[in-house]
Amino acid sequence: MAADRWTPESWRAKPIQQVPTYPDAAGLVAVEKTLAGYPPLVFAGEARKLKRALGDVAKGHSFLLQGGDCAESFAEHSADNIRDFFRVFLQMAVVLTFAGASPVVKVGRIAGQFAKPRSAPTEKRGDVELPSYKGDIINDIDFTPDGRMPDPRRLLEGYRQSAATLNLLRAFATGGYANLENAHRWMLSFVQDSPQSHRYRELADRITETLGFMRAIGLDAEKHQELRATDFYTSHEALLLGFEQSMTRVDSTTGDYYATSGHMLWIGDRTRQADHGHVEYCRGVKNPIGLKCGPSLKPDDLLRLIDVLNPEDEAGRLTLICRFGAERVVDHLPALIRAVKREGRTVVWSCDPMHGNTISAGGYKTRPFERVMSEIRTFFAVHQAEGTNAGGVHLEMTGKNVTECTGGARAISEGDLSDRYHTFCDPRLNAEQAIEVAFLIAELLKTERASQAPQVHAAE
Ligand code: TRP
Ligand code: MN
Repeated sequence: MAADRWTPESWRAKPIQQVPTYPDAAGLVAVEKTLAGYPPLVFAGEARKLKRALGDVAKGHSFLLQGGDCAESFAEHSADNIRDFFRVFLQMAVVLTFAGASPVVKVGRIAGQFAKPRSAPTEKRGDVELPSYKGDIINDIDFTPDGRMPDPRRLLEGYRQSAATLNLLRAFATGGYANLENAHRWMLSFVQDSPQSHRYRELADRITETLGFMRAIGLDAEKHQELRATDFYTSHEALLLGFEQSMTRVDSTTGDYYATSGHMLWIGDRTRQADHGHVEYCRGVKNPIGLKCGPSLKPDDLLRLIDVLNPEDEAGRLTLICRFGAERVVDHLPALIRAVKREGRTVVWSCDPMHGNTISAGGYKTRPFERVMSEIRTFFAVHQAEGTNAGGVHLEMTGKNVTECTGGARAISEGDLSDRYHTFCDPRLNAEQAIEVAFLIAELLKTERASQAPQVHAAE
Protein backbone atom coordinates (compact mmCIF):
# COMPACT_ATOMS: atom_id res chain seq x y z
CA MET A 1 0.00 0.00 0.00
CA ALA A 2 0.90 3.64 -0.24
CA ALA A 3 2.27 3.78 3.29
CA ASP A 4 4.97 1.25 2.41
CA ARG A 5 8.54 2.34 1.93
CA TRP A 6 9.17 3.89 -1.48
CA THR A 7 12.17 3.11 -3.67
CA PRO A 8 12.71 3.87 -7.37
CA GLU A 9 11.76 0.24 -8.07
CA SER A 10 8.94 -0.27 -5.56
CA TRP A 11 6.45 0.08 -8.45
CA ARG A 12 7.64 -3.31 -9.71
CA ALA A 13 5.81 -5.10 -6.90
CA LYS A 14 2.45 -3.51 -7.80
CA PRO A 15 -0.19 -4.43 -10.33
CA ILE A 16 0.29 -2.40 -13.49
CA GLN A 17 -1.54 -1.52 -16.72
CA GLN A 18 -0.22 -0.74 -20.17
CA VAL A 19 3.29 -2.23 -19.86
CA PRO A 20 4.89 -3.73 -22.97
CA THR A 21 6.24 -7.26 -22.88
CA TYR A 22 9.82 -7.36 -24.15
CA PRO A 23 10.88 -10.65 -25.75
CA ASP A 24 14.48 -9.59 -25.10
CA ALA A 25 14.26 -9.31 -21.29
CA ALA A 26 18.03 -9.48 -20.81
CA GLY A 27 18.51 -6.72 -23.37
CA LEU A 28 16.06 -4.54 -21.46
CA VAL A 29 17.92 -5.03 -18.18
CA ALA A 30 21.21 -4.10 -19.88
CA VAL A 31 19.76 -0.96 -21.46
CA GLU A 32 18.19 0.19 -18.21
CA LYS A 33 21.53 -0.24 -16.51
CA THR A 34 23.27 1.80 -19.19
CA LEU A 35 20.71 4.59 -18.85
CA ALA A 36 21.15 4.67 -15.10
CA GLY A 37 24.77 5.65 -15.69
CA TYR A 38 23.94 8.50 -18.08
CA PRO A 39 23.68 12.16 -17.04
CA PRO A 40 20.26 13.46 -16.01
CA LEU A 41 18.34 15.42 -18.67
CA VAL A 42 17.03 17.97 -16.19
CA PHE A 43 18.21 18.80 -12.72
CA ALA A 44 16.32 18.93 -9.44
CA GLY A 45 16.62 22.69 -8.96
CA GLU A 46 14.71 23.24 -12.21
CA ALA A 47 11.93 20.90 -11.16
CA ARG A 48 11.68 22.79 -7.87
CA LYS A 49 11.51 26.09 -9.72
CA LEU A 50 8.66 24.76 -11.86
CA LYS A 51 6.90 23.55 -8.73
CA ARG A 52 7.09 27.04 -7.24
CA ALA A 53 5.75 28.52 -10.47
CA LEU A 54 2.87 26.01 -10.43
CA GLY A 55 2.27 26.93 -6.79
CA ASP A 56 1.54 30.45 -8.07
CA VAL A 57 -0.87 28.96 -10.60
CA ALA A 58 -2.66 27.10 -7.78
CA LYS A 59 -3.11 30.41 -5.97
CA GLY A 60 -4.55 32.04 -9.08
CA HIS A 61 -1.55 34.29 -9.74
CA SER A 62 -0.31 32.65 -12.96
CA PHE A 63 -1.62 30.58 -15.85
CA LEU A 64 -0.28 27.21 -17.02
CA LEU A 65 0.21 26.63 -20.74
CA GLN A 66 1.14 23.01 -21.44
CA GLY A 67 1.21 21.58 -24.94
CA GLY A 68 2.92 19.66 -27.69
CA ASP A 69 2.62 16.51 -29.77
CA CYS A 70 0.42 13.65 -28.72
CA ALA A 71 3.45 11.48 -29.45
CA GLU A 72 6.88 12.64 -30.56
CA SER A 73 8.46 10.46 -33.23
CA PHE A 74 11.99 9.39 -34.01
CA ALA A 75 11.40 10.03 -37.71
CA GLU A 76 10.53 13.69 -37.22
CA HIS A 77 13.37 15.02 -35.18
CA SER A 78 14.47 18.09 -37.07
CA ALA A 79 15.48 21.50 -35.77
CA ASP A 80 12.71 23.02 -37.92
CA ASN A 81 10.07 20.97 -36.18
CA ILE A 82 11.23 22.00 -32.73
CA ARG A 83 11.62 25.63 -33.77
CA ASP A 84 8.17 25.82 -35.36
CA PHE A 85 6.57 24.35 -32.27
CA PHE A 86 8.45 26.72 -29.98
CA ARG A 87 7.51 29.75 -32.09
CA VAL A 88 3.83 28.94 -31.90
CA PHE A 89 4.04 28.22 -28.21
CA LEU A 90 5.67 31.60 -27.51
CA GLN A 91 3.08 33.46 -29.54
CA MET A 92 0.38 31.83 -27.45
CA ALA A 93 2.27 32.78 -24.30
CA VAL A 94 2.50 36.47 -25.27
CA VAL A 95 -1.23 36.67 -25.86
CA LEU A 96 -2.09 34.85 -22.62
CA THR A 97 0.38 36.84 -20.50
CA PHE A 98 -1.05 40.10 -21.73
CA ALA A 99 -4.70 39.09 -21.45
CA GLY A 100 -4.36 37.61 -17.98
CA ALA A 101 -1.92 40.31 -16.83
CA SER A 102 -0.11 37.49 -15.06
CA PRO A 103 2.82 35.19 -15.81
CA VAL A 104 2.36 32.16 -18.04
CA VAL A 105 4.12 28.99 -16.89
CA LYS A 106 5.40 27.36 -20.07
CA VAL A 107 5.53 23.57 -20.17
CA GLY A 108 6.02 21.59 -23.38
CA ARG A 109 4.79 18.04 -24.02
CA ILE A 110 8.19 17.54 -25.51
CA ALA A 111 11.68 16.06 -25.11
CA GLY A 112 10.37 12.74 -23.79
CA GLN A 113 6.73 12.34 -24.89
CA PHE A 114 7.26 8.97 -26.53
CA ALA A 115 5.25 6.28 -24.73
CA LYS A 116 1.53 5.87 -25.36
CA PRO A 117 -1.16 3.97 -23.50
CA ARG A 118 -3.54 2.27 -25.96
CA SER A 119 -7.15 1.23 -25.64
CA ALA A 120 -6.42 -2.22 -27.10
CA PRO A 121 -3.20 -4.25 -26.65
CA THR A 122 -3.36 -5.53 -30.22
CA GLU A 123 -4.38 -4.21 -33.60
CA LYS A 124 -6.02 -6.32 -36.28
CA ARG A 125 -5.80 -5.66 -40.00
CA GLY A 126 -7.55 -8.29 -42.08
CA ASP A 127 -6.41 -11.62 -40.65
CA VAL A 128 -3.24 -10.25 -39.12
CA GLU A 129 -3.14 -9.36 -35.45
CA LEU A 130 -0.08 -7.61 -34.00
CA PRO A 131 0.74 -5.65 -30.82
CA SER A 132 -0.60 -2.08 -30.94
CA TYR A 133 1.83 0.75 -31.62
CA LYS A 134 2.80 2.12 -28.19
CA GLY A 135 5.08 4.99 -29.12
CA ASP A 136 8.55 5.17 -30.65
CA ILE A 137 10.33 4.49 -27.36
CA ILE A 138 8.62 1.06 -27.29
CA ASN A 139 7.92 -0.18 -30.85
CA ASP A 140 7.47 0.93 -34.46
CA ILE A 141 4.35 2.31 -36.10
CA ASP A 142 4.98 -0.01 -39.11
CA PHE A 143 2.44 -2.81 -39.11
CA THR A 144 4.94 -5.66 -39.34
CA PRO A 145 5.77 -8.37 -36.77
CA ASP A 146 9.29 -6.98 -36.48
CA GLY A 147 8.21 -3.36 -36.21
CA ARG A 148 5.61 -3.98 -33.55
CA MET A 149 7.97 -5.99 -31.33
CA PRO A 150 9.01 -3.94 -28.25
CA ASP A 151 12.74 -3.29 -28.61
CA PRO A 152 14.87 -2.19 -25.63
CA ARG A 153 17.33 -0.27 -27.83
CA ARG A 154 14.55 2.24 -28.38
CA LEU A 155 15.01 3.49 -24.82
CA LEU A 156 18.51 4.67 -25.68
CA GLU A 157 17.24 6.42 -28.79
CA GLY A 158 14.52 8.07 -26.68
CA TYR A 159 17.17 9.35 -24.30
CA ARG A 160 19.32 10.64 -27.15
CA GLN A 161 16.45 12.44 -28.86
CA SER A 162 15.20 13.95 -25.60
CA ALA A 163 18.68 15.27 -24.83
CA ALA A 164 19.07 16.83 -28.27
CA THR A 165 15.60 18.37 -28.22
CA LEU A 166 16.08 19.78 -24.75
CA ASN A 167 19.45 21.19 -25.73
CA LEU A 168 17.94 23.14 -28.61
CA LEU A 169 14.99 24.32 -26.51
CA ARG A 170 17.34 25.62 -23.83
CA ALA A 171 19.32 27.48 -26.48
CA PHE A 172 16.14 29.00 -27.92
CA ALA A 173 14.75 29.92 -24.50
CA THR A 174 17.84 31.70 -23.24
CA GLY A 175 19.94 32.51 -26.30
CA GLY A 176 17.91 35.38 -27.73
CA TYR A 177 15.39 33.58 -29.95
CA ALA A 178 12.65 33.78 -27.29
CA ASN A 179 12.96 37.55 -27.13
CA LEU A 180 9.53 39.03 -26.37
CA GLU A 181 9.79 41.34 -29.38
CA ASN A 182 10.30 38.32 -31.66
CA ALA A 183 7.30 36.48 -30.28
CA HIS A 184 5.23 39.61 -30.64
CA ARG A 185 6.30 40.12 -34.27
CA TRP A 186 5.44 36.51 -35.19
CA MET A 187 2.07 36.92 -33.50
CA LEU A 188 1.34 40.07 -35.55
CA SER A 189 1.98 38.24 -38.77
CA PHE A 190 -0.34 35.45 -37.65
CA VAL A 191 -3.08 38.04 -37.02
CA GLN A 192 -2.48 39.65 -40.39
CA ASP A 193 -2.88 36.35 -42.22
CA SER A 194 -5.83 35.05 -40.23
CA PRO A 195 -9.30 35.00 -41.77
CA GLN A 196 -10.39 36.12 -38.29
CA SER A 197 -8.00 39.13 -38.24
CA HIS A 198 -10.69 41.55 -37.13
CA ARG A 199 -11.36 39.48 -34.04
CA TYR A 200 -7.72 39.34 -32.92
CA ARG A 201 -6.44 42.72 -34.08
CA GLU A 202 -7.56 44.80 -31.11
CA LEU A 203 -5.67 42.71 -28.57
CA ALA A 204 -2.63 42.55 -30.84
CA ASP A 205 -2.63 46.34 -31.21
CA ARG A 206 -2.77 46.86 -27.48
CA ILE A 207 0.27 44.62 -27.04
CA THR A 208 2.10 46.57 -29.76
CA GLU A 209 1.34 49.84 -27.97
CA THR A 210 2.46 48.47 -24.64
CA LEU A 211 5.76 47.27 -26.06
CA GLY A 212 6.26 50.64 -27.76
CA PHE A 213 5.72 52.38 -24.45
CA MET A 214 8.14 50.07 -22.68
CA ARG A 215 10.79 50.71 -25.30
CA ALA A 216 10.24 54.46 -25.02
CA ILE A 217 10.98 54.45 -21.32
CA GLY A 218 14.12 52.37 -21.75
CA LEU A 219 12.82 48.90 -20.94
CA ASP A 220 14.42 47.08 -23.84
CA ALA A 221 15.72 43.59 -24.40
CA GLU A 222 19.35 44.69 -24.63
CA LYS A 223 19.32 45.73 -21.01
CA HIS A 224 16.71 43.43 -19.57
CA GLN A 225 17.19 39.71 -19.48
CA GLU A 226 13.51 39.07 -18.61
CA LEU A 227 12.49 40.47 -22.01
CA ARG A 228 15.12 38.45 -23.83
CA ALA A 229 14.69 35.02 -22.27
CA THR A 230 12.03 32.78 -20.86
CA ASP A 231 11.73 29.73 -18.61
CA PHE A 232 10.57 26.75 -20.62
CA TYR A 233 9.96 23.35 -19.02
CA THR A 234 9.46 19.83 -20.37
CA SER A 235 6.89 17.17 -19.50
CA HIS A 236 5.66 13.77 -20.61
CA GLU A 237 3.46 10.91 -19.49
CA ALA A 238 5.36 8.67 -17.06
CA LEU A 239 4.18 5.48 -18.72
CA LEU A 240 7.33 3.47 -19.33
CA LEU A 241 8.44 3.05 -15.74
CA GLY A 242 11.61 1.07 -16.45
CA PHE A 243 12.87 4.11 -18.34
CA GLU A 244 11.72 6.48 -15.58
CA GLN A 245 13.37 4.36 -12.91
CA SER A 246 16.65 4.42 -14.82
CA MET A 247 16.46 8.22 -14.97
CA THR A 248 15.67 8.65 -11.25
CA ARG A 249 18.43 10.33 -9.26
CA VAL A 250 19.03 11.51 -5.71
CA ASP A 251 19.39 15.28 -5.55
CA SER A 252 22.58 15.97 -3.67
CA THR A 253 21.39 19.20 -2.06
CA THR A 254 18.20 17.79 -0.50
CA GLY A 255 18.71 14.01 -0.54
CA ASP A 256 15.35 13.67 -2.33
CA TYR A 257 14.61 11.55 -5.38
CA TYR A 258 13.77 13.31 -8.65
CA ALA A 259 12.74 12.03 -12.04
CA THR A 260 15.35 13.57 -14.32
CA SER A 261 13.77 12.57 -17.65
CA GLY A 262 11.76 15.81 -17.69
CA HIS A 263 10.64 18.56 -15.35
CA MET A 264 7.05 17.43 -14.92
CA LEU A 265 5.52 13.97 -15.32
CA TRP A 266 1.91 13.03 -15.55
CA ILE A 267 -0.15 9.92 -14.85
CA GLY A 268 -2.62 8.90 -17.57
CA ASP A 269 -6.34 8.40 -17.09
CA ARG A 270 -5.92 4.65 -17.74
CA THR A 271 -3.11 4.13 -15.23
CA ARG A 272 -4.17 6.19 -12.22
CA GLN A 273 -5.28 3.34 -9.89
CA ALA A 274 -4.12 4.43 -6.42
CA ASP A 275 -2.55 1.05 -5.55
CA HIS A 276 -0.95 0.37 -8.94
CA GLY A 277 2.55 0.89 -10.29
CA HIS A 278 2.27 4.26 -12.01
CA VAL A 279 0.94 6.07 -8.94
CA GLU A 280 3.50 4.24 -6.82
CA TYR A 281 6.41 5.49 -8.92
CA CYS A 282 5.16 9.08 -9.08
CA ARG A 283 4.43 9.43 -5.37
CA GLY A 284 8.12 9.02 -4.53
CA VAL A 285 9.73 11.57 -6.85
CA LYS A 286 9.57 15.22 -5.88
CA ASN A 287 8.82 16.66 -9.34
CA PRO A 288 5.57 18.41 -10.12
CA ILE A 289 3.07 15.70 -11.05
CA GLY A 290 0.04 15.84 -13.33
CA LEU A 291 -2.95 13.57 -12.96
CA LYS A 292 -5.34 13.06 -15.87
CA CYS A 293 -8.93 13.14 -14.65
CA GLY A 294 -11.53 11.57 -16.94
CA PRO A 295 -15.26 10.89 -16.56
CA SER A 296 -14.73 7.65 -14.63
CA LEU A 297 -12.90 9.38 -11.75
CA LYS A 298 -15.08 9.53 -8.61
CA PRO A 299 -14.57 12.32 -6.06
CA ASP A 300 -13.54 9.85 -3.34
CA ASP A 301 -10.97 8.22 -5.62
CA LEU A 302 -9.58 11.64 -6.44
CA LEU A 303 -9.22 12.49 -2.74
CA ARG A 304 -7.42 9.22 -2.15
CA LEU A 305 -5.05 9.95 -5.04
CA ILE A 306 -4.39 13.44 -3.68
CA ASP A 307 -3.51 11.89 -0.31
CA VAL A 308 -1.08 9.48 -1.93
CA LEU A 309 0.50 11.95 -4.37
CA ASN A 310 0.54 15.11 -2.30
CA PRO A 311 0.27 14.12 1.38
CA GLU A 312 1.80 17.39 2.56
CA ASP A 313 -0.47 19.57 0.44
CA GLU A 314 2.43 21.27 -1.23
CA ALA A 315 1.29 23.99 -3.67
CA GLY A 316 2.44 23.21 -7.23
CA ARG A 317 3.02 19.51 -6.60
CA LEU A 318 -0.20 18.33 -8.18
CA THR A 319 -1.94 19.47 -11.37
CA LEU A 320 -5.32 17.93 -12.13
CA ILE A 321 -5.63 17.73 -15.91
CA CYS A 322 -9.35 17.38 -16.62
CA ARG A 323 -10.46 15.69 -19.85
CA PHE A 324 -14.16 15.03 -19.82
CA GLY A 325 -15.43 16.04 -23.26
CA ALA A 326 -17.30 19.24 -24.05
CA GLU A 327 -20.73 17.98 -23.03
CA ARG A 328 -19.61 16.16 -19.93
CA VAL A 329 -17.62 18.83 -18.07
CA VAL A 330 -20.70 20.12 -16.25
CA ASP A 331 -21.62 16.59 -15.12
CA HIS A 332 -18.23 15.77 -13.61
CA LEU A 333 -16.13 18.80 -12.77
CA PRO A 334 -18.27 20.49 -10.07
CA ALA A 335 -18.30 17.40 -7.83
CA LEU A 336 -14.50 17.05 -8.07
CA ILE A 337 -13.96 20.74 -7.33
CA ARG A 338 -16.27 20.61 -4.31
CA ALA A 339 -14.57 17.52 -2.89
CA VAL A 340 -11.14 19.13 -3.22
CA LYS A 341 -12.42 22.36 -1.68
CA ARG A 342 -14.13 20.56 1.18
CA GLU A 343 -10.87 18.83 2.07
CA GLY A 344 -8.95 22.08 1.74
CA ARG A 345 -6.46 20.64 -0.76
CA THR A 346 -4.25 22.75 -3.00
CA VAL A 347 -4.19 21.79 -6.67
CA VAL A 348 -3.78 23.34 -10.09
CA TRP A 349 -6.90 22.84 -12.20
CA SER A 350 -5.98 22.47 -15.85
CA CYS A 351 -8.20 21.71 -18.85
CA ASP A 352 -7.29 19.12 -21.48
CA PRO A 353 -9.93 19.85 -24.14
CA MET A 354 -8.48 17.30 -26.57
CA HIS A 355 -8.92 13.77 -25.28
CA GLY A 356 -12.62 13.87 -24.49
CA ASN A 357 -13.50 15.30 -27.90
CA THR A 358 -12.13 12.78 -30.37
CA ILE A 359 -14.53 11.57 -33.04
CA SER A 360 -14.01 9.67 -36.27
CA ALA A 361 -14.83 11.07 -39.66
CA GLY A 362 -14.08 9.57 -43.05
CA GLY A 363 -11.65 7.04 -41.60
CA TYR A 364 -9.73 9.65 -39.58
CA LYS A 365 -9.69 10.42 -35.89
CA THR A 366 -10.36 14.12 -35.54
CA ARG A 367 -11.37 16.78 -33.03
CA PRO A 368 -13.70 19.59 -34.01
CA PHE A 369 -12.21 22.97 -33.03
CA GLU A 370 -15.59 24.13 -31.73
CA ARG A 371 -15.78 21.24 -29.29
CA VAL A 372 -12.29 21.93 -28.06
CA MET A 373 -13.21 25.56 -27.40
CA SER A 374 -16.53 24.56 -25.91
CA GLU A 375 -14.81 22.35 -23.31
CA ILE A 376 -12.47 25.21 -22.40
CA ARG A 377 -15.34 27.69 -22.07
CA THR A 378 -17.35 25.36 -19.86
CA PHE A 379 -14.27 24.67 -17.75
CA PHE A 380 -13.85 28.40 -17.14
CA ALA A 381 -17.56 28.87 -16.43
CA VAL A 382 -17.64 26.03 -13.88
CA HIS A 383 -14.63 27.46 -12.04
CA GLN A 384 -16.19 30.88 -12.06
CA ALA A 385 -19.37 29.44 -10.55
CA GLU A 386 -17.47 27.43 -7.92
CA GLY A 387 -15.17 30.32 -7.00
CA THR A 388 -12.02 28.40 -8.00
CA ASN A 389 -9.32 29.12 -10.58
CA ALA A 390 -9.24 27.84 -14.12
CA GLY A 391 -5.47 27.46 -13.84
CA GLY A 392 -4.35 26.31 -17.26
CA VAL A 393 -4.75 24.30 -20.42
CA HIS A 394 -3.14 21.15 -21.77
CA LEU A 395 -3.17 20.95 -25.57
CA GLU A 396 -2.09 18.57 -28.30
CA MET A 397 -0.61 20.87 -30.92
CA THR A 398 2.13 21.22 -33.47
CA GLY A 399 3.94 24.12 -35.12
CA LYS A 400 3.18 22.62 -38.52
CA ASN A 401 0.34 23.38 -40.85
CA VAL A 402 -1.34 19.96 -40.56
CA THR A 403 -4.99 19.08 -41.16
CA GLU A 404 -5.91 16.85 -38.24
CA CYS A 405 -8.55 18.82 -36.30
CA THR A 406 -11.54 20.23 -38.18
CA GLY A 407 -12.72 23.83 -37.90
CA GLY A 408 -10.89 26.95 -36.82
CA ALA A 409 -10.66 30.20 -38.76
CA ARG A 410 -9.66 28.35 -41.95
CA ALA A 411 -12.62 26.02 -41.50
CA ILE A 412 -10.81 22.75 -42.15
CA SER A 413 -13.51 20.29 -43.25
CA GLU A 414 -13.72 16.55 -42.85
CA GLY A 415 -12.83 16.27 -46.51
CA ASP A 416 -9.62 18.25 -45.92
CA LEU A 417 -8.30 15.85 -43.28
CA SER A 418 -6.51 13.66 -45.82
CA ASP A 419 -4.40 16.61 -47.11
CA ARG A 420 -1.84 16.76 -44.32
CA TYR A 421 -2.76 14.23 -41.67
CA HIS A 422 0.62 13.43 -40.15
CA THR A 423 0.11 12.56 -36.50
CA PHE A 424 1.57 9.37 -35.06
CA CYS A 425 -1.28 9.14 -32.61
CA ASP A 426 -4.04 11.65 -31.81
CA PRO A 427 -5.06 14.65 -33.97
CA ARG A 428 -3.32 17.90 -33.01
CA LEU A 429 -4.24 21.54 -33.38
CA ASN A 430 -2.18 23.04 -36.19
CA ALA A 431 -0.15 26.24 -35.74
CA GLU A 432 -2.99 28.60 -36.57
CA GLN A 433 -5.59 26.70 -34.59
CA ALA A 434 -3.30 26.69 -31.54
CA ILE A 435 -2.76 30.45 -31.65
CA GLU A 436 -6.49 30.95 -32.14
CA VAL A 437 -7.14 28.93 -28.99
CA ALA A 438 -4.82 31.32 -27.15
CA PHE A 439 -6.72 34.37 -28.45
CA LEU A 440 -10.04 32.83 -27.45
CA ILE A 441 -8.74 31.94 -23.98
CA ALA A 442 -7.49 35.53 -23.77
CA GLU A 443 -11.09 36.68 -24.01
CA LEU A 444 -12.02 34.37 -21.14
CA LEU A 445 -9.11 35.57 -19.01
CA LYS A 446 -10.08 39.16 -19.64
CA THR A 447 -13.66 38.52 -18.52
CA GLU A 448 -12.41 36.65 -15.48
CA ARG A 449 -10.12 39.52 -14.59
CA ALA A 450 -12.89 42.08 -14.99
CA SER A 451 -15.11 40.15 -12.60
CA GLN A 452 -12.34 39.92 -10.00
CA ALA A 453 -11.17 43.55 -10.23
CA PRO A 454 -11.61 45.47 -6.99
CA GLN A 455 -14.53 47.86 -7.21
CA VAL A 456 -13.64 51.53 -7.20
CA HIS A 457 -16.06 53.73 -5.31
CA ALA A 458 -16.18 57.29 -6.57
CA ALA A 459 -17.41 58.60 -3.24
CA GLU A 460 -14.43 57.38 -1.22
N1 TRP B 1 10.48 36.45 -19.47
C1 TRP B 1 9.08 36.77 -19.60
C2 TRP B 1 8.25 35.49 -19.68
O1 TRP B 1 8.78 34.47 -19.99
C3 TRP B 1 8.81 37.65 -20.81
C4 TRP B 1 9.05 37.00 -22.12
C5 TRP B 1 10.24 36.95 -22.81
C6 TRP B 1 8.10 36.30 -22.90
N2 TRP B 1 10.08 36.31 -23.99
C7 TRP B 1 8.78 35.89 -24.08
C8 TRP B 1 6.74 36.05 -22.74
C9 TRP B 1 8.10 35.19 -25.07
C10 TRP B 1 6.09 35.33 -23.73
C11 TRP B 1 6.76 34.91 -24.87
O2 TRP B 1 7.07 35.55 -19.47
MN1 MN C 1 -3.11 12.00 -27.05
